[in-house]
Amino acid sequence: MVSLQPRLEKLRAGVHQLVVDGKPFMMRAGELNNSSMSSASFMRTVWPEMQRANVNTVLGGVPWDQIEPVEGQFDFSELDQIIVDARAHDIRLVLLWFGSFKNGASQYPPAWVKLDPKRFPRQKVGAIPQTANYLSVFDPKNRSRDADANAFKRLMEHVREVDGAHGTVIMVQVENETGLLGDSRDRSELANAAFEAPVPADLVELFDKQWETMNSTIRTTFAEQRKAGSIKATSTWEEAFGKSKSTDELFMAYHYAKYVGAVAAAGKAAYPIPHYTNAWLRNIPDGAEVDGATVVGFGGIFPGAYPSGGPVETVLDIWMEFAPAIDFFSPDIYMDGYDSTCALYSHRGQPLFIPEQRRDEFGAIRLWSAIGRFNALGTSPFAIDSGETPYTEHYLLLKQAAPHILDARVQGYPMDGFHFDAFAPGSPDPSPARTLHFGEWGLLVERAEVHGHPAAAYGIIIQTASNKFFLIGAGYQIKFSSNRKDATYTGLLSFDEKEVDDRGELRTGRLLNGDETQQGMAVVMPSKEIDFGDFWFIAMQVPARTRLAECTVYSLYE
Ligand code: DGJ
Repeated sequence: MVSLQPRLEKLRAGVHQLVVDGKPFMMRAGELNNSSMSSASFMRTVWPEMQRANVNTVLGGVPWDQIEPVEGQFDFSELDQIIVDARAHDIRLVLLWFGSFKNGASQYPPAWVKLDPKRFPRQKVGAIPQTANYLSVFDPKNRSRDADANAFKRLMEHVREVDGAHGTVIMVQVENETGLLGDSRDRSELANAAFEAPVPADLVELFDKQWETMNSTIRTTFAEQRKAGSIKATSTWEEAFGKSKSTDELFMAYHYAKYVGAVAAAGKAAYPIPHYTNAWLRNIPDGAEVDGATVVGFGGIFPGAYPSGGPVETVLDIWMEFAPAIDFFSPDIYMDGYDSTCALYSHRGQPLFIPEQRRDEFGAIRLWSAIGRFNALGTSPFAIDSGETPYTEHYLLLKQAAPHILDARVQGYPMDGFHFDAFAPGSPDPSPARTLHFGEWGLLVERAEVHGHPAAAYGIIIQTASNKFFLIGAGYQIKFSSNRKDATYTGLLSFDEKEVDDRGELRTGRLLNGDETQQGMAVVMPSKEIDFGDFWFIAMQVPARTRLAECTVYSLYE
């Protein structure tokens, strides 16, 4: 019998699919505002909006203080109604476990945890250490960790009970943007004792055994110490790694990973659907090269300005090793550096999912890169219930194109995705043309030529046969060339508009030629709205209709 439990399946290195109802699933996701899912009656106003927005997956918080207001007494009534209502609207859920940590802080633990610092010790921050709104990850008795793990386990047991046969809940996020803000490390006595103790042997072993495959930033940061041989289990943290904020961050990451890893393991043992956690990203100076990608403008340069110890790329290997119940680590991408961040979070070929990104057009066009280039399981703008977003239009197209994208992943068809940002007339174009290589062919992908000012563009190209391409998107054009030395001419044999019928099947619409191919020079996937500039009286660019097409190319070899 086919298992209907949502699961992840690895197709090959770096390519995964999420399987829901026994079939590959593309998340057209949106994350709710933080408090929305605490009320089933509020959510009743949201479900129809989600349907109109072409969203098929909603991410929403499950607050610990709501489900366990009194220790050991659980109340799942709101959540149960939410699951039933989501299912009735044919919408899947990703539950965000707002347990010990949410945006670093411990604001969601119930009162019986918050009011008992003796039993549930806090972190301390600052030059004169002050008690902070962060549960300690250094309690030798692990009391808050275990209380959290118990609540999370009960949640997952309950979800399995009420939803196991339906698979409405498809994934779960364990905590939210973990890490300490306001200082690079906890300065409490508990933390200081751990910091002065020898470095744990399992961490030293990780550095010994996995150094070559670790993320480049961690190798750069601790290259000197590695060379000097100071990373050993007889050294304290500062003897081993030097005195720096990076050492503090490593120290925090190791302990946070173990804490959150234990919470995740408890939930996963109860109901093993995909578990992931997300990162508030670190700031990398503009132009820096990380793992071959140039980075631009993240937010907050030092650990403590971004949550110290959270799963940022520097310490991703630490999290992967010490929180093995977490299937993958996701970036919340609000700033630029979108593609380079996707590349960083594809580390060790893990599945990619963007649980939070910008809700404007700048964010929306990026979903095509995440999905087409980096094989993301899906993307999710934050605050999807704060009114209309451009994702509605993009998700409509993704809904039609997803079966072909998912199939291409299974078949192993070459595929790539891209976006070209909007820019003001007269200012430099931020998104240069690029040449993509598909077997024999070089594809020069550039903005579709218009007489006026070009719009933002986005798309995915799939090579379905040696000379055949399925094209998705708008605002771009492609010029083909052959890399064979004996090719003397490369051109187009056909360019067909594709439309999707009522059963979701593709059929051919217009046969595109003439102006629509610049007389055979290019395939043009035009924008939905075209600026004709001064040439409105000869409107030779035709606005996009379906944003789907197929073309075949040929070369003459002489
Ligand atoms: C990132 C957090 O993960 C979200 O829950 C939300 O608080 C947003 N920030 C708001 O900007």
